[in-house]
Amino acid sequence: MAGNIVLAFDLYGTLLSTESIAQELASHFPEKAHSISSLWRRYQLEYTWRLNSMGVYETFASITRNALLHALAEHDETLDDDATIALMKAYDNLSTFPDVKPTLTELSSIPTVKAVVFSNGTHSMVSKSVKSSPDLSPHASVFSDIISIQSVRQFKPAPSTYFHLAEKVGKSSQLSDIWLVSGNPFDIIGSRNVGLNAIWVDRAGRGWTDSAVPRLRPTAIVKSFEEILTIIKDATS
Ligand code: LAC
Repeated sequence: MAGNIVLAFDLYGTLLSTESIAQELASHFPEKAHSISSLWRRYQLEYTWRLNSMGVYETFASITRNALLHALAEHDETLDDDATIALMKAYDNLSTFPDVKPTLTELSSIPTVKAVVFSNGTHSMVSKSVKSSPDLSPHASVFSDIISIQSVRQFKPAPSTYFHLAEKVGKSSQLSDIWLVSGNPFDIIGSRNVGLNAIWVDRAGRGWTDSAVPRLRPTAIVKSFEEILTIIKDATS
């Protein structure tokens, strides 16, 4: 296969750990922080799928805030407006997974691969995370573009979101040149559904169990980010 591969990195749950927000929550709810943070993430994603089904759009920033309030209510907890605003600010400064930084450093030395960030997040959220957060901003130059679904007004795994990605990277007629990297199985299935290649990051090492569409599977599975580079080097050689 010739060069010109595009590596499209999902953001939340792939480059950034959504669990890292638990540290912020722990200052308010030491006992329940992990449980609230995981329910927050579940509702955040569930809301995106529900809105897709209904043909209704809300921004990911507003979904994220509303999902937090829902998760808190289910834990019989509340936060005042200032604390909620501070938590939302912390969401723009999530930590990277430990395997991310060394891989991005190495990736910057492979000029044939174009890397972009591709996320459900709003332009503002994703730009802040990539360009201003302490963890990711030193690596921001690795990414030639930050692509949000905001203008599509649908969320992953709607086909329109992946077609938008393809259009933005100039690959509408060569979808298989795009390799999505994601830790989110629904994102893997969504991209494979329309003909992209996809690498699933299985950091927990549990193996592929998603059966939403049994015929659709990742092109490759890695346990750690570093392995992505070997896969891409093989694909381009
Ligand atoms: C994103 C979601 C999948 O960053 O978390 O697009």
